[in-house]
Amino acid sequence: MRTFLHPADLGDLQGALQEAQHIKANRFAYDTIGRNKTALLIFFNNSLRTRLSTQKAAMNLGMNVIVLDVNQGAWKLETERGVIMDGDKSEHLLEAVPVMGSYCDVIGVRTFARFENRDDDYSERILQQFIQHSGRPVFSMESATVHPLQAFADLITIEEHKRTAKPKVVLTWAPHPKALPQAVPNSFAEWMVAAGYDLTIAHPEGYELCEDFSRGARITYDQDEALQGADFVYAKNWAAYRAPHYGQVLSKDLSWTVSQEKMALTNDAAFMHCLPVRRNMIVTDDVIESPRSLVIPEAANREISATVVLKRMVEALS
Ligand code: CP
Repeated sequence: MRTFLHPADLGDLQGALQEAQHIKANRFAYDTIGRNKTALLIFFNNSLRTRLSTQKAAMNLGMNVIVLDVNQGAWKLETERGVIMDGDKSEHLLEAVPVMGSYCDVIGVRTFARFENRDDDYSERILQQFIQHSGRPVFSMESATVHPLQAFADLITIEEHKRTAKPKVVLTWAPHPKALPQAVPNSFAEWMVAAGYDLTIAHPEGYELCEDFSRGARITYDQDEALQGADFVYAKNWAAYRAPHYGQVLSKDLSWTVSQEKMALTNDAAFMHCLPVRRNMIVTDDVIESPRSLVIPEAANREISATVVLKRMVEALS
């Protein structure tokens, strides 16, 4: 596996889920396959779960790990080609990327949407520069448009907790004070459809996701109607995708907060969120603290999804 952005990169998804189950039960079964191999984890943005779980996954495989916070201690990087570099950016990504590639065997990249230009964000320019110029296999640790390690962990979690073969999964928009990327909802929708689940996406008008990701889901502006009979409720905020409002916060309507009253509409659904979460904006205290909340096991499964992905990348090196 040379890149990891989409479920198709894993090939047979059921096979990948079985591998995840095996690795979870035998976490150190492959603790020598990464010997003398180095994972470089590059963060252009803050992270808690991705940083720790991916590092742990690499250690499970016996890999060496280098973590670089680009914004702390590295030279400030220019990403645009053709710019006269007379400002505060000392190094161009086009030199930095192959240099970074020379110190490692696989590269993980965390970079968010900038919300300056939709085409620019959706071209995944920074991630693509790593794919094209690093000479190494590259995986997204959340990039401008996708968060596949999160979605794979979400899928593992649902498989572990589902009570029917084809559960009803509801992805619901919820309010947040700041503009957030569409990466998590894009990937969640893409992976749930790929898994063959019954997916409904609920959001206020104006928050339609890119159809490349939401195709195959049922879409509604009525959250209460969506929640009827749901087996899993996945809450997430995202900023508007459609022009001319790309990257904007169009609503902070607290009636979309996932509360006990909302959960009462469901089929005793489990609650999910990728974290970090703003309590009493996205979800009320009582819902996230309830026995039906899966946010902690979901986060713990990030180690498993990352171990599967890194294992496959390391196996493909030899
Ligand atoms: N869910 C997730 O990616 O968390 P972090 O931003 O803390 O890595």
